[in-house]
Amino acid sequence: MDTRIINFYEDGFKDCVNEIRENGVVVFPTETVYGIGGNALSPQAINKIFEVKNRERDNPLIVHVCDYDISKYVKNVSEDSKKLIDKFWPGPLTIIFEKSSIIPYETTGGRESVGLRMPNNEIALKLIKESGCPIAAPSANISGRPSGTNSKRCFEDLKGKVKFIIDGCESKIGLESTVISMINDEPIILRPGYVTLQDIQKVLPRVKMYERVNEKILDENPISPGMKYKHYAPKGKMVIVKGNMENIRSYVKQEIINHKKVGVLCFKENYKFYREISEELNLVVVGSKSDLNEIGKNLFESIRRFDDLNCDFIISECLNEDFSTAIMNRLLKAASFNVITF
Ligand code: TXA
Ligand code: MG
Repeated sequence: MDTRIINFYEDGFKDCVNEIRENGVVVFPTETVYGIGGNALSPQAINKIFEVKNRERDNPLIVHVCDYDISKYVKNVSEDSKKLIDKFWPGPLTIIFEKSSIIPYETTGGRESVGLRMPNNEIALKLIKESGCPIAAPSANISGRPSGTNSKRCFEDLKGKVKFIIDGCESKIGLESTVISMINDEPIILRPGYVTLQDIQKVLPRVKMYERVNEKILDENPISPGMKYKHYAPKGKMVIVKGNMENIRSYVKQEIINHKKVGVLCFKENYKFYREISEELNLVVVGSKSDLNEIGKNLFESIRRFDDLNCDFIISECLNEDFSTAIMNRLLKAASFNVITF
């Protein structure tokens, strides 16, 4: 299969709309990360998404809408959910509801609940509107790999597997949406994202962060299936380091001897520190510690850079502030929760 990269402003967009209407799949940009989408109401389209991504069938897909009237897709929209929709849609917040019967179990990984989100991206909204159906879309990467935040990276993972990738430049946010469950009495954040706990508390003071979001989850049946699967991994082994800088320096020197090609994911502020350890280190600067949005935007692209550089061992710095819950969540998963404290 040939994979075409489509410019939204040219003719190919119509072909993408037709592809969705005919139960095919299309890669498209959103403000968070790129999605690989198909008609959320069509088991045939949904099966294709799972096949192309090589995704576990019990891991539910997020359903993307372009309209505030979601009553067809869910059993009930509570007053609290309405508040979230008013405040955060269109935007990077996925809300989990009890699903209506129109949403097939293929889409929800067999669950009675469904996650909905209205993306804040012109191309995504137009694709949903013109296709005439809600679009189920996980991130546009092979399962386990870092999410794609530009058309080039999506092409790298999915070439020959999808017909169309719509180019929409770099994703503005770069991390996937915050996922909040509204199906029980207590609203609970299942995946941290750009919309933080503090942002949501302003609208719903009762909201809580699931206490294990940044833990390694081995349960057979976790609260959100995505938690138990491997995520965001570069090809080399990755570890996160924190603590005393002098000890980190000795550790890095030792690992240069132990491995063929060592990479370091660092903040702008510490570039010099690592450069001075060795000219051999492959340094990727993810952004400045004083600009978390910049770090979020660059994170997945930076992790993929180590594959371009053929690094077999990657050492990453870490953070501990507010929106950094989301950044650290992705980093911890990329490193399979390997954290070394010095
Ligand atoms: O920003 C995003 O959310 C991107 C863009 C494309 O919209 N999508 C995305 O999808 O990140 P995906 O499939 O990579 O991640 C969806 C996450 C998974 O961890 C999944 O387990 C969880 O949301 N999820 C979806 N529906 C759920 C449900 N009904 N109950 C619990 N967790 C759910
Ligand atoms: Mg994903």
